[in-house]
Amino acid sequence: MPAAKNYQAIILAGGKGTRLKSNLPKVLHDILGKSVLQRCLETLTQLSTTAFSMQKVYIVVGYQAEVVQKAIEALTWPFEIEFVIQEPQLGTGHAVQQVAKVFDATPNTQLLITCGDTPCIPLELFKHCLEVHDQEKLDLTVASCKLDNPGDYGRVLFDTHNNFEAIVEAKDASEEIKKIKWINTGIYVANWEKLNSVLGQLTANNAQKEYYLTDVALLLKKAGHNVGVCKIESADNEASVLGINSRADLSRAIDIFSHRKIKALMQDGITIIKPETVTIAPEVTIDADSTIYPNTYLVGNIQIGSNCHIGPNTTLQGEIIIGKNCTVGHSYLQNTVTIGDKNSIGPFAHIRDNTTVGSQCRIGNFVEIKQSKIGNNTNAAHLSYLGDATIGHDVNMGAGSIIANYDPIRDQKHETMIENNVKVGCNSTLIAPVTIGESACIAAGSTITKNVSTHDLAIARSHQSVIPKWVKKKQLEKAKLH
Ligand code: UD1
Ligand code: CA
Repeated sequence: MPAAKNYQAIILAGGKGTRLKSNLPKVLHDILGKSVLQRCLETLTQLSTTAFSMQKVYIVVGYQAEVVQKAIEALTWPFEIEFVIQEPQLGTGHAVQQVAKVFDATPNTQLLITCGDTPCIPLELFKHCLEVHDQEKLDLTVASCKLDNPGDYGRVLFDTHNNFEAIVEAKDASEEIKKIKWINTGIYVANWEKLNSVLGQLTANNAQKEYYLTDVALLLKKAGHNVGVCKIESADNEASVLGINSRADLSRAIDIFSHRKIKALMQDGITIIKPETVTIAPEVTIDADSTIYPNTYLVGNIQIGSNCHIGPNTTLQGEIIIGKNCTVGHSYLQNTVTIGDKNSIGPFAHIRDNTTVGSQCRIGNFVEIKQSKIGNNTNAAHLSYLGDATIGHDVNMGAGSIIANYDPIRDQKHETMIENNVKVGCNSTLIAPVTIGESACIAAGSTITKNVSTHDLAIARSHQSVIPKWVKKKQLEKAKLH
């Protein structure tokens, strides 16, 4: 077993990502709710449970270094993180040279180097490279795989004995070399001392006038060190090693994460209809025998219970918990929302911002609920707005009932309390702050401005006047005129 203590990692994240044409640094672009760099770090986090637990991770930052640093420091990680500023950014080799200046090496430090723009690399791939490096006692291990369309990746060259020869960047490659299908994944495992011994020898004599990290392989080999290639043979190599260099790559990475999740969910007993139209983030959990319908977008810390029917055309985004046996269709749940069991939500419900809905509720057509707590067996089935409200159990909010929670003059929100068993008639407006006592009844069409006590009926609308036969009279008048 390798000595777990001596593993450290470098993530190269200093580049601007010019090809994305963005003001946001490349590594902060979003993949289903988390940044590209956060996704990379999460895979290293998973390594913590293996023999290759990283003690410390150096992240090379350059373009908008502070922004990148802040985003990552706001999160908790199982390893120490040190940010190393690379200014200016003169290439991947130059990036590692900056780390060398601050690196605190313990003897026999083995270093995993990966790019901050390759978030789809699975844990197994890292593990495999670390194992090969360890078992074959290599000084540098270059992870390589064969791609049908090797595109702009660096090519890995082998000699006639199938030993590592060199890495050539696509931009520096001849047409002949470009035909080579073995590519450099950008993942390396190195013996720190050996790597460090050649870092100073890098030059920028190449098409991009950059100090390439890839050149250390040749330098180490020339110095008589043991450079080997970890050949990765797996069906989805092309996806795993994807480097995000353009918006098209970013979109592909999002698809990769979602498709992997969808595949795993289906294996765990979830039905997904038209999976190609569904997007699901890795963090989502869904219990068995639930069904996800087309055009559904689930991104965030989402938990869905068993036997639920989610979608079609539904977005759950943020911290969302849905109990068992719920139906949520054509709806949008956003920020922090908790829904109990046996609820029917939608079509066209919008529930958001710290809302809790109990069990066996019906939140129906065109209903918006914001920052409210709704008890069990309560219905708001048609065309309502409920905001900043605490609503008890067995309440019925009639069609078109509205809570007027906002005072636009003072720019203030006010609370509404609707106790258990209250029945609010259709097209009523409750002007907050207001409390409706238990089992009270609000007559349809009322505008309620004062508290209503328990068991009372409140009617706040003008009395109906009837003018007998008014229409008939008008018709007769009209006939006389002609
Ligand atoms: C790099 C490799 C290439 C490999 C590919 C895999 C080199 C020279 N080439 O190419 O062989 O096939 O990755 O995806 O290493 N970075 C810095 N500082 C810099 C330049 C880059 O930190 O000065 C970071 C970038 O932010 C990025 C990573 O290093 O996360 C890779 O840089 P990038 O410019 O994307 O290299 P590629 O052209 O993709
Ligand atoms: Ca890249």
